[in-house]
Amino acid sequence: MTNQSGTAKLTFGDQEIDLPMYSPTAGPDVIDIRKLYAQGHVFTYDPGFTSTASTDSAITFIDGDKGELLHRGFPIDQLAEKSHFLEVCYLLLYGELPSGDQLETFESLVTNHTMLHEQMQFLFRGFRRDAHPMAVMVGVVGAMSAFYHDSTDINDPHQREVASIRLIAKMPTIAAWAYKYTIGQPFVYPRNDLDYASNFLRMCFSVPAEDYEVNPILARAMDRIFTLHADHEQNASTSTVRLASSSGANPFACIAAGIACLWGPAHGGANQACLEMLREIGTVDQIPEYIRRAKDKDDPFRLMGFGHRVYKNFDPRAKVMKQSADEVLDLLGIENNETLKVAKELEKIALEDPYFIEKKLYPNVDFYSGIILDAMGFPTSMFTPIFALARTVGWISQWKEQLADPQLKIGRPRQLYCGPTARDYIDVEDR
Ligand code: SDX
Repeated sequence: MTNQSGTAKLTFGDQEIDLPMYSPTAGPDVIDIRKLYAQGHVFTYDPGFTSTASTDSAITFIDGDKGELLHRGFPIDQLAEKSHFLEVCYLLLYGELPSGDQLETFESLVTNHTMLHEQMQFLFRGFRRDAHPMAVMVGVVGAMSAFYHDSTDINDPHQREVASIRLIAKMPTIAAWAYKYTIGQPFVYPRNDLDYASNFLRMCFSVPAEDYEVNPILARAMDRIFTLHADHEQNASTSTVRLASSSGANPFACIAAGIACLWGPAHGGANQACLEMLREIGTVDQIPEYIRRAKDKDDPFRLMGFGHRVYKNFDPRAKVMKQSADEVLDLLGIENNETLKVAKELEKIALEDPYFIEKKLYPNVDFYSGIILDAMGFPTSMFTPIFALARTVGWISQWKEQLADPQLKIGRPRQLYCGPTARDYIDVEDR
């Protein structure tokens, strides 16, 4: 916690309450309201937490006005260009970029923990073949506490470390096997001679009937997509992981809760919904009708992949993703990709429309990612599992940070009650 930088005076009724204020290293000052209920017998009210800091954190910082995203101070565009996912994992977990030796040790640790307990494959087989891969991931990750119970004691720093590595290492295998199971193909085991992204691509696309060579360009693009999704402050799924962890739940249960939350179309599920929306629009001449619908208050339709709670300028991840989409489609020789054409025209029209300008709606991380994943050969149902795979390191880093916080208390919000006040039971014959 940073030192007190001032005092806020809150006056209401006949009360005047002094509340301490703290200044962060970046971003807005905060007013500490922890003593407000005890002193003033009132709650604050902030559904959706638009103005509420739930914790202090040193991992990721977003400046929504500047369109800036920093991981331990390093800008996302520099990390996407110069780093790679496992190095970003190290940075998020331990706070600094690793030395050559530290990176080599970390990568070897992750590489040697990519296999699943052999019995876990029977968990996959319990699902229907048409199960959504996210449903499979929620189930299998939650069940990891039954297979890896030697890394569930959150009070043991060594077990916290083992659980962290296991989750980062095994998520690609779990995601790939969830995909293979739903398409009726055999599971492909990880290989230790492949890098993280190449291993994932091979587990997804290799079949026993023929050799599979990982395209290094796709592997680089895949790795960059992982980096762009790694962490993002206290978003809905990270807050879910933190709240679950505040009760002392084991790490696998907490990450399963994060996966479940991420699945929603307002959050990580937007990448699947966005590509499906672009396909539904179909051609550039259909765009105006969808822009009209997005602006119509009586129409629940929203432009998927647009808007953000924090970014009121371009999402820096979307910029990198857009460049990557151009590169990957070009390198794959996918000319005249109608979906990409619709996406670029939709972005152009929306950004010139007064409604989107006034509400500061820009493309977010989910707007272009689906186009790249589609070009790589993934079905839309695999888009959010890939987001979950990448975000696991963010969830784990935040989970570790919270457990190391001496001020940790169970999260238990209050409410503004608007239901009936106390009343007596009414017998059925009198109702
Ligand atoms: C992610 O939090 C994170 O960091 C998330 C994430 C991460 O890395 O973890 O960045 C990942 O979840 C990205 C967002 C993916 N979701 C989508 O693309 C779904 C479409 N976007 C929206 O549903 C919406 O923009 C949200 C959910 C992303 C943000 O919602 P907010 O901040 O609660 O904003 P809001 O719903 O209050 O909208 C403000 C106004 C509203 O109009 P008014 O009521 O003021 O008249 O903008 C409108 C909204 O109707 N609006 C949209 C819109 N998004 C907001 N109108 C049309 N299309 C949209 N996409």
